[in-house]
Amino acid sequence: MGAHITGSGVSLPPAIVTNDDLATIMDTSDEWIAKRSGVRQRHIAAPGVGSAQLGAEAVTAALDNAGIDPSSVDAIVSATMTPDHYAPGNAPLIQDRAGLGSIAAFEIRQQCGGFLYGLDMADMLIATERAETVVVVGAEAHRGYMPYGDSLDILLGTSTAEPTPEDTERANESRAWSVLFGDAGAAMVLQPGTPETGVLGSTLHSDGSLFDLIHVPAPGFVHTYWSTTEQIDAGLHNPQMNGAELFRQAVRLMPDSVRTVLDRTGYSLDDVELIIAHQANQRILDGIAKQLGVAPGIVASNIAMYGNTTAATLPLLFHDCKNDGRVSEDTLLAFTAFGAGAHWGALLYREPATTAAS
Ligand SMILES: CC(C)(COP(=O)(O)OP(=O)(O)OC[C@H]1O[C@@H](n2cnc3c(N)ncnc32)[C@H](O)[C@@H]1OP(=O)(O)O)[C@@H](O)C(=O)NCCC(=O)NCCS
Repeated sequence: MGAHITGSGVSLPPAIVTNDDLATIMDTSDEWIAKRSGVRQRHIAAPGVGSAQLGAEAVTAALDNAGIDPSSVDAIVSATMTPDHYAPGNAPLIQDRAGLGSIAAFEIRQQCGGFLYGLDMADMLIATERAETVVVVGAEAHRGYMPYGDSLDILLGTSTAEPTPEDTERANESRAWSVLFGDAGAAMVLQPGTPETGVLGSTLHSDGSLFDLIHVPAPGFVHTYWSTTEQIDAGLHNPQMNGAELFRQAVRLMPDSVRTVLDRTGYSLDDVELIIAHQANQRILDGIAKQLGVAPGIVASNIAMYGNTTAATLPLLFHDCKNDGRVSEDTLLAFTAFGAGAHWGALLYREPATTAAS
């Protein structure tokens, strides 16, 4: 009995940073970013706003959308790669701030694959009757990774100063990855469904031998002292990314997963009306369409508006597709994601009749 998504909600920080804004603090251009990645703008959380706040706001919006009282939620699964604090993670903070009561709060760490894993986990909790109402939330405040120094205030419109040469140099060192990401929270409410609708099947994978394609080397307890100024001076607290190899793996593994889940559930690509894929690069999305031999329009995209919002991406895109009518009664859609770990997979879902858009 596949779980139904009975509500979705998002929280987007109000500050929008365009590619032209970024070009005022580093050597880049709208043309380079848009052509290489498809990103035109991203939301950036203000200083003091963390992913737990964005996540809690998204959970509240999703529960409102589903018409569910917070006291009725049995479990929450929180996915993030940018928690407010290294410990205890975001799950209990979101549980508390969204007023969910002392329910089980799971924290999972699959980065761009996080929401997909969370969705499957919620389906398992419901299928095994361990829970009836589960909230899955993905939320990110990548701002904390952006090595922009005081130039952050210029981007957020709170300073009219000129960037310092030191800040420009640091921003330039990060430009291959920092321009790709954006901040957001997004959540779904999952409840018991029917055999014909809701979650129909899934396939999840991980391969730790690929961990260095994108990882954050420090802080971490493998180091004698888990956090040092030397690590920060060396930039080890920033993501280290092999963009070209990540690109290659993403274009291979997301289509493979979609094919696997279709095989497992007895459907074919001709049945799939929409693919909700992780939004890391428009060229990856185009590559997925090409690999699968489906029309590009089947692979939904909102990367131009938000950039890569890591664990928030899938629910944010689902919410947008629901609101613009691309997900309606009986739509058969495939979720798929690939991200740091590496973790990847796909999940097949048929939209039931009665769920609401906001
Ligand atoms: C990161 C990515 C957009 C880079 O695109 P690309 O076409 O491979 O570009 P390259 O890295 O080869 O860089 C090409 C040139 O642009 C420059 N460049 C990099 N970032 C730039 C920026 N923001 N603005 C302008 N120029 C930039 C590089 O320095 C390089 O210059 P050079 O040729 O003089 O050395 C692309 O590889 C990608 O999207 N990979 C996947 C990333 C991903 O999935 N990340 C998240 C995983 S969960």
